[in-house]
Amino acid sequence: MAKKKVKKSLKSITNTHKGKLLGPKSLKPQQTRQIIRRFHIIQKNKYSIISKLRKANSNIDINDYDSIKNSKVYQNEFKNFKIPTKYSENEIYKIDNTSTDKELIKILARIDSEIEQRGGLKTYQSASTQGQTSKRGGDSSKKLIEWLKTSKYETKLTQDLNALEIGCLSPHNIISTSKIFKSITRIDLNSQDPFILQQDFMERSLPTSEEEKFNLISCSLVLNFVPSHEKRGEMLIRITKYLKSPKNGQLSSLFLVLPLPCVKNSRYFDNDKLLEIMGKLGFKQTFFYEANKVAYWLFDWNGKVSKNITFNKKELHSGSTRNNFCISIDNT
Ligand SMILES: C[S@@+](CC[C@H](N)C(=O)[O-])C[C@H]1O[C@@H](n2cnc3c(N)ncnc32)[C@H](O)[C@@H]1O
Repeated sequence: MAKKKVKKSLKSITNTHKGKLLGPKSLKPQQTRQIIRRFHIIQKNKYSIISKLRKANSNIDINDYDSIKNSKVYQNEFKNFKIPTKYSENEIYKIDNTSTDKELIKILARIDSEIEQRGGLKTYQSASTQGQTSKRGGDSSKKLIEWLKTSKYETKLTQDLNALEIGCLSPHNIISTSKIFKSITRIDLNSQDPFILQQDFMERSLPTSEEEKFNLISCSLVLNFVPSHEKRGEMLIRITKYLKSPKNGQLSSLFLVLPLPCVKNSRYFDNDKLLEIMGKLGFKQTFFYEANKVAYWLFDWNGKVSKNITFNKKELHSGSTRNNFCISIDNT
């Protein structure tokens, strides 16, 4: 009797097969954590490689390095690299001052190949939606809306308000359904919906008038995605340029969400440092909430960014189990 063919079930943590995303799949919390963590690591690696390669080729940046992609070294490495099935077997890339340009290009190709084989940024976004948000009780903007509905903000919500959501995964979250905002601009590096503009906030053109600015900016779990401490600082400074002037008590606020370990377990950063930086940028905390895995802040902006501020990366807390999250500022 002919043997019945048993179809092998596809076991892919990222729900991809041969580099193609297979569609929405429910992920276990540990899987979402693995995906998110790996993406953060390789994004950071990628950033430091591009920074090193930029010294020899100033025309390249993190989003545009076609000259490198077209090289034989890159293409061979990209094509031949196969990701391991287990996340625990993922390569830990060694990037230091002894790495040659050729080695850096090879690692870059392996990182890009890994990202593609794991389903691209979409996989990370899907893990973020399923993992972090569900675990903290749904969508993070719930907290924002809860705070905006308190008496503290009552008088500020009487005008037509607009909001900018940086790193938006869904146009149906509570920021949108609350009806507090007359208009919402949603942006993301990788838009997953026609109502979300595909745009890098760091490249967005600067507002030229008050009309182009926003009453509220939401930056939820985005800063930690930004691959360097300097860029995170730049993002915070940039945010101030998009906020409306708080004159006549009008709403001019920032909703910030970070994974809790960024302020609880970093060697270089903590909540006091964040508040110090925010204070120099003109922000005053109005609400703060610490959940199990994430921390939420609502800041009001007073419109005044201090000149000549510098916050360098320096050790605040020692300990081998700490992470390296940091935000540095150079506004000189
Ligand atoms: C972890 S998700 C967070 C999504 C959502 N805001 C939340 O709180 O669940 C981070 C998102 O930020 C986006 N992102 C990161 N840097 C960005 C930038 N410079 N401009 C626009 N979007 C960015 C990423 O593409 C990703 O979709």
